[in-house]
Amino acid sequence: MSEHDRWASRMGLVLAMAGNAVGLGNFLRFPRLAAQYGGGAFLIPYLIALVLLGIPLMWVEWTVGRYGGQFGNRSAPGIFARLWQSNWSKYLGSLGIALPLLFTVFYTYIESWTLAYACFSCTGSYMEKDPERARREIPVAIEGVTPEDLQAMWAVQTLIAQSDANQDGQLSRAEWTDPNRPFEQLDTDADGVLTASEVRAGAALEKVDVAGSFLLSRSAWTGTGEAFELLDVNADGQLDESEVQRVMKPLAGAHTNRFLQDYQGVSEPEQRTYFHSLGWAIGFWVVTVLINTWVISRGISGGIERLAKVAMPLLFVFAFILAIRVLTLGTPDPNYPDHSVWVGLNYIWEPNFAALTDFDVWLAAAGQIFFTLSIGTGAILCYASYIRPQDDCILTGLTTSATNEFAEVVLGATIAIPIAVATFGLANTRVIAGQGSFDLAFVAMPIIFEQMPAGRLFGALWFALLFFAGVTSSVALCQPLVAFLQEAFLISRRRAALCCGAAMIVLGLPMVLWLKAGYLDQYDFWVGTFGLVIFSLVEVLLFAWVFGGENMWQEIRRNADIQVPRVFYYVIRYVVPLVLIWLLAGWCCQNFHAVILLKGAKPETVPYIWLSRATILAVIVATAVLVAVGRRWKRSLSA
Ligand code: ALA
Repeated sequence: MSEHDRWASRMGLVLAMAGNAVGLGNFLRFPRLAAQYGGGAFLIPYLIALVLLGIPLMWVEWTVGRYGGQFGNRSAPGIFARLWQSNWSKYLGSLGIALPLLFTVFYTYIESWTLAYACFSCTGSYMEKDPERARREIPVAIEGVTPEDLQAMWAVQTLIAQSDANQDGQLSRAEWTDPNRPFEQLDTDADGVLTASEVRAGAALEKVDVAGSFLLSRSAWTGTGEAFELLDVNADGQLDESEVQRVMKPLAGAHTNRFLQDYQGVSEPEQRTYFHSLGWAIGFWVVTVLINTWVISRGISGGIERLAKVAMPLLFVFAFILAIRVLTLGTPDPNYPDHSVWVGLNYIWEPNFAALTDFDVWLAAAGQIFFTLSIGTGAILCYASYIRPQDDCILTGLTTSATNEFAEVVLGATIAIPIAVATFGLANTRVIAGQGSFDLAFVAMPIIFEQMPAGRLFGALWFALLFFAGVTSSVALCQPLVAFLQEAFLISRRRAALCCGAAMIVLGLPMVLWLKAGYLDQYDFWVGTFGLVIFSLVEVLLFAWVFGGENMWQEIRRNADIQVPRVFYYVIRYVVPLVLIWLLAGWCCQNFHAVILLKGAKPETVPYIWLSRATILAVIVATAVLVAVGRRWKRSLSA
């Protein structure tokens, strides 16, 4: 093995492993989930998932990688075959090549947006020339009204309108037709009629079809305070769609939203103003793939480690500068004392034990732990196979996890959410975050930067920080395929890197072209969520059960710089597999309708969604075939 195929120093290894973990998930996905799931409410399940799943699985991946590496195996098929001497093991291991490849395909496309936006920040391309117009796009905060509230009120109004024969705005016993909801139970004041509030409080809404044009009358309004008057801009006594949009989608009309949609090619061609084709998006994406390919072609110490030694310190410097800028922002508009950085920080950090009963929060928290630590991607396993047999896995694994958590929970949480709360208010920030990570990063943050002195500089720092975070993770996700091609087909690292780059282009092009049809979202769910748990389960079962409990424990503790408490033996052997099975079951139940049966998907997107799924499956099958062919070829060569 050449010197390029080893980590040159422990510091380099830690930085590369931390670079592998610290990624877009830390600065985009985590703040979005934290805001969406109630800030401090999210943090408790998140920290529990870190201790029960994240750290034990991190140790498992490091140790399994080191174990395989001592036999010269660098990719999951070979490593798994060392744990379980069966023909099946290498086919299970082929998942450790297919999943990171598929992961890096969608990941590098998002990464390319960050590179593009870093450049657009420098040139000011997304910035509105008229500052007053830009300021008007900042959504008005109407506290106490959420999109769910409006949906519920709309549903009540629709229900009443459908059944209210005498049109008096309320439902009498004769008009009430739902046999599952006894009239008496809903009529809490026993006055013989149901008001909008009573219908809503009785949650008699499930069957109501709320499609159609949105008009919410004053009589159906069940909210409190001045909210109705604030929303009813034209004071006509009812809320129409555009008035409601201010709460439902606070940044839908913002120029930064149009900029992003034009860049991604998801807006209608005749309505585009900023970009008229996908040329820029394709250009930045190809450059990003080339950067990744070039780095991995330079090898472990010459490419990946060198990149980490430059990118990681810069990432932390940029993150500190941005965090300090955010913390010194205070309350930017004295008219809105609640719009402050401290309200945002308090929201993230205030513990809320009630959330522990919400299954969705647990699923989201556990999913984030996998994503952020790169567990189950096959990337850690592959990186760890390049350490020496006498190297420690425990302390170094813990150090990289701690570095990742610092970047995520301390820095990640201090930038996007507090600054968004200071600008848009807490209620709007929650809604923006609920619409996905991209709205927060690529629509909301640019508005904030253009309002800020030296905004171009801070915008460039933010997007460069995201790009460095992304590229140090994506090269790690490329490495399993490169290592496998070298190992199984005995080709040079450079040729293996070129094959990987070509695969990224071929698989990524449909994603670039059909983003609007939800092509990328399929990868995000099946690979970035579901696949990680499947691969982790395979890995932990092979290591803790097939390889054997005591063998596993001995291997984990070998050359460890710190003692691992015996309780982790039980955690790895029993708790982790059970929790993983529980997560898989939870995701299946929760997503069966929405994701698997495509409920709510627009009919025109369905073929693209199936094509995306078929591609994922085809890549998994193709890597299994390569594993079979590659091994045989290697044997016949050596024979
Ligand atoms: N661990 C990487 C991230 O957080 C994949 O983005």
